[in-house]
Amino acid sequence: MRILVTGGAGYIGSHLVDKLLEAGHEVVALDNLSSGRPENLVHLEDAPRFRLIEGSITDPKRVAEAMRGCAMVYHMAAVVGVRRVVEDPLACITTNVIGTHLVFEEARRLGCKVLLASSSEVYGKSTAVPFREEDDRILGPVTVSRWSYSAAKAVDEHLALAYAAQGLLIAVVRYFNSYGPRMDPESYVVPRFLRQALDNQPITVHGDGSQSRSFTYIEDTLRGTLLAATTPEGEGKIFNIGSDRETTILELAQTVIRVTRSASPISFVPYSHHRPFEDVPRRVPDVSRARRLLGFEARVPLEEGLLKTARWLEP
Ligand SMILES: NC(=O)c1ccc[n+]([C@@H]2O[C@H](COP(=O)([O-])OP(=O)(O)OC[C@H]3O[C@@H](n4cnc5c(N)ncnc54)[C@H](O)[C@@H]3O)[C@@H](O)[C@H]2O)c1
Repeated sequence: MRILVTGGAGYIGSHLVDKLLEAGHEVVALDNLSSGRPENLVHLEDAPRFRLIEGSITDPKRVAEAMRGCAMVYHMAAVVGVRRVVEDPLACITTNVIGTHLVFEEARRLGCKVLLASSSEVYGKSTAVPFREEDDRILGPVTVSRWSYSAAKAVDEHLALAYAAQGLLIAVVRYFNSYGPRMDPESYVVPRFLRQALDNQPITVHGDGSQSRSFTYIEDTLRGTLLAATTPEGEGKIFNIGSDRETTILELAQTVIRVTRSASPISFVPYSHHRPFEDVPRRVPDVSRARRLLGFEARVPLEEGLLKTARWLEP
């Protein structure tokens, strides 16, 4: 089968490309390399069943070229990461909404199935953990630009359901803090802590570290994604894909120090010095729908995933 991975040079997208090639598919990646990196695909330079098209999902010609002959699209391309979104909310909104609309429209024209990568950010700052897919979304004011990412991803999901109602085969996954090799240490907490620990530098925890997340190793993220895309029960549905083990940021820092046997101290940094925006206090998925309909469960313990990611970061 020929498959398009938008954002295929990115962290999750490039791992997905590898998995799909391993399964014997022909794979096209469409990426504008804004946050994705050619190094993520360098091992595929001579792979006969792989092609990278450099271009934007907001360019109709590029989208049509990339999707030609494809039976399936994994739509990963997006402006991602709170820092990028705060720095350039316009790029976030236009890429994530207009780009997604173009991908869906072309998929409908070609009769192609779509898997949409969405985010736990859609739940906003809801405190009703664990989050179920049908729960209310609680967002801050539009003057706080971090919420534009949540809003754009929610519009993508509304679009997905609207296209599904018109017959497009579609599934949506909401990722919860995926981490693993190829993740950018500048932008994400897990590789940043690991980098600091490996360098024996202070591990910088924002606030008192009591805010929590559900860290999900890339292998689990990929398995959930592929199950949602290929299980007939996944069609037209939204799934939380992540670990349901809740970990505070302070626990994450302590675990990173333990698994890397680092001498790093923990340094507490006030939010206002780094991030003038609202943080989300807790973020934990209820994965019972994915468990029931897809047979999905995150399997990789945090310590094991951290060790594997540390090995990748080591010089
Ligand atoms: N990593 C996570 O924990 C997480 C959590 C929630 C949701 N997601 C979603 O998963 C998907 C993949 O995220 P990721 O973590 O791999 O981030 P990433 O930044 O590594 O990947 C995004 C990719 O999209 C590409 N891209 C951006 N704008 C583009 C455009 N206009 N045209 C073509 N390509 C473009 C980037 O260059 C990059 O390669 C995204 O949709 C993201 O919103 C990720």
